[in-house]
Amino acid sequence: EKGTYPHYMLKEIDEQPLVIRKIVEEYRNENGVLSIDEEILAAMNEADRIYIIAAGTSYHAGLVGKQFIEKMAKIAVEVHISSEFGYNTPLLSERPLFVFISQSGETADSRAVLVKVKELGYKALTITNVPGSTLSREADYTLLLHAGPEIAVASTKAYTAQLAVLAILAEVTAVSRGFKPEMDLSKELGIIANAMEVLCDEKDEFESIAREFLTVTRNCFFIGRGIDFYVGLEGALKLKEISYIQAEGFAGGELKHGTIALIEEGTPVIALATQESVNLSIRGNVKEVVARGAYPCIISMKGLDMNGDSFVLPEVHELLTPLISVVPLQLISYYAALHRGCDVDKPRNLAKSVTVE
Ligand code: M6R
Repeated sequence: EKGTYPHYMLKEIDEQPLVIRKIVEEYRNENGVLSIDEEILAAMNEADRIYIIAAGTSYHAGLVGKQFIEKMAKIAVEVHISSEFGYNTPLLSERPLFVFISQSGETADSRAVLVKVKELGYKALTITNVPGSTLSREADYTLLLHAGPEIAVASTKAYTAQLAVLAILAEVTAVSRGFKPEMDLSKELGIIANAMEVLCDEKDEFESIAREFLTVTRNCFFIGRGIDFYVGLEGALKLKEISYIQAEGFAGGELKHGTIALIEEGTPVIALATQESVNLSIRGNVKEVVARGAYPCIISMKGLDMNGDSFVLPEVHELLTPLISVVPLQLISYYAALHRGCDVDKPRNLAKSVTVE
């Protein structure tokens, strides 16, 4: 039930800190240490390459998950859009492990790939919010998101839950492979939950950003580099699906290869700056679009912020920034849709789970 909330989407955005804390609790063993089923760890360790298969927001979580697994557990990862995989199957490695990410566990495009993978005799792990869902039943292993039911068509808490579970999977696998842990992940996820709470208390800020940047525009671009680029893709999907503003996410360095031609006087460009190594280059990209008339909204992380940034995120571990940088984008999309009179929870032409191929 949505209780006093006007929309499920807003309620689900607000639930994110609780969900992250719940995930940490669920994945801790009796000694308080993050752990994953031994069978799953064995499958991760046997694999010479991981193939993540997903659609929409879950695909965007997969892109971030690749960074987690490659950086922490040092296993090569490919991320594929479910509906493309069947027609464009890549050359598979010798010992692949397939990881399906799906909030509902019912996405037909993903299921079609799972059926094929099982026919080929490969192992599959499903990361889902719904125990007993088709993708969970048909895979060899399941990791649950513990996010509680997600009702709004726009996925919010499932995305951050997917990121948290992927981070735990990456970290626990890393430790089982004898690597020094990248961080104290339970502690860092606690910091994330607190930072999410701070962001959820700043709704007025995001409402006014939405009002200032998105009330009348026809389009909006999201730019970032590295992990920020992937969050930009998710921000753009959120905005387009509920507000019908044409929104696209671009890698900062790609702008000059074509996209910059789209920038006109007043085009809103939302830039993410949470990564130290690319902070100056993304800011260079902002200058390039501003010189062509763009209206920039920079969301940076504390420590990397500069004069004129529209919002400064609390500081969290650099690898985990997507868990918090997405929250402003979710809220900005929510308010943009609201201001434009759209049906936030049930956008046109869309269904919560897509059960046709
Ligand atoms: O249930 P799934 O995670 O498999 O769903 C995949 C996509 O249909 C879903 O993420 C969709 O893109 C959302 N509406 C995005 O907010």
